[in-house]
Amino acid sequence: MSEKDFLSRKPSLNIEHGEVSCFAPSNIALVKYWGKHGLQLPKNPSISFTLNKCRTITRVVFDKKESKGFDFEVFLDGGKTDSFKPKIQTFFERALPYLPFLEDYRFEIHTENSFPHGSGIASSASGMAALAMCLIEIEKKLLSENPPTHKASFLARLGSGSACRSIEGGLVVWGKHPKIEKSTDLYGISYPYEVHQVFKNFQDTVLLIDEGEKSVSSTVGHDLMKQHFFAEKRFEQAGENLEKMIPILRQGDLNGFINIVENEALSLHAMMMTGNPGYILMKPNTLKVIEEIREFRKMNSANICFTLDAGANVHVLYPYSEREIIQVFIKEKLAGYCQNRNFIEDSVGTGAECL
Ligand code: DP6
Repeated sequence: MSEKDFLSRKPSLNIEHGEVSCFAPSNIALVKYWGKHGLQLPKNPSISFTLNKCRTITRVVFDKKESKGFDFEVFLDGGKTDSFKPKIQTFFERALPYLPFLEDYRFEIHTENSFPHGSGIASSASGMAALAMCLIEIEKKLLSENPPTHKASFLARLGSGSACRSIEGGLVVWGKHPKIEKSTDLYGISYPYEVHQVFKNFQDTVLLIDEGEKSVSSTVGHDLMKQHFFAEKRFEQAGENLEKMIPILRQGDLNGFINIVENEALSLHAMMMTGNPGYILMKPNTLKVIEEIREFRKMNSANICFTLDAGANVHVLYPYSEREIIQVFIKEKLAGYCQNRNFIEDSVGTGAECL
């Protein structure tokens, strides 16, 4: 499919007022997207687990209007929140050719996150995915036909790259890779090959090391890659790591999985540290947790590993079958490194849905 396949005609039905509600989960990348070009196109392919409990629930109320231009308000947990407006304005501008009705209605966007606000957990992925799902739901009503498959993911990408991996459940690939059939830079697809049972219900405990705002936005981070001394090698490494994942996922090779997932997390942070300017997004407790996880793995032969996003929080990944001993370790040891001992126990989930 190409961009053209997602263009849309003006609505045929004249609906004055309506309302839709959808939710979308967060996702955690195993091979990271870091560096983009053009209109939200990734410089390398990535793969992620869609999560279950960490999600955004969005309700959009729409009313027909006569005036031209965009007209919308955003409410977070019931309160009007203007700080989200610029990001949504940009998203609407990019999405307009694909959703021409955006100019014909006034929208109220009511959004809630299942995770604590300001917890440092990225909400842009689940937030943009939930909004894209709502807009597709509206388009369905207005055209009284189903928009093309993957359009929600395509739109979510225009809002935030990683959001396109929050529509489908399980493992999702975004970005063209020659060894992964139907993979594309335009939207996320369900990982198309055999996946061992162990990876179908993987656990992810998110340790909230630093609940503050991120010190570098992902936009600034992606921009760093434009001039980065190691950029080309990093994009190559991500492609190689994704290819190595194919037999690992099929065979249930946990050692191979741990090796790649930690290599990706540390490479992402290495890119930030060696950029110009350089950023250190880990906190002392991030490093302490990494050491504890590696020590616990060695002492207990446990299949536990960590990954990081562009911030200080740590995602602890482990198989469902080992959850009892690992969750005791997290509660007794790792929680001590979290702000207010806060962490969220999550697992692989089934993806976005409308209610
Ligand atoms: C480190 O998707 O937040 O989480 O496209 O600018 O919205 P934008 O960036 P964003 O970048 C996320 C990067 C990451 C790695 C990943 O999720 O793959």
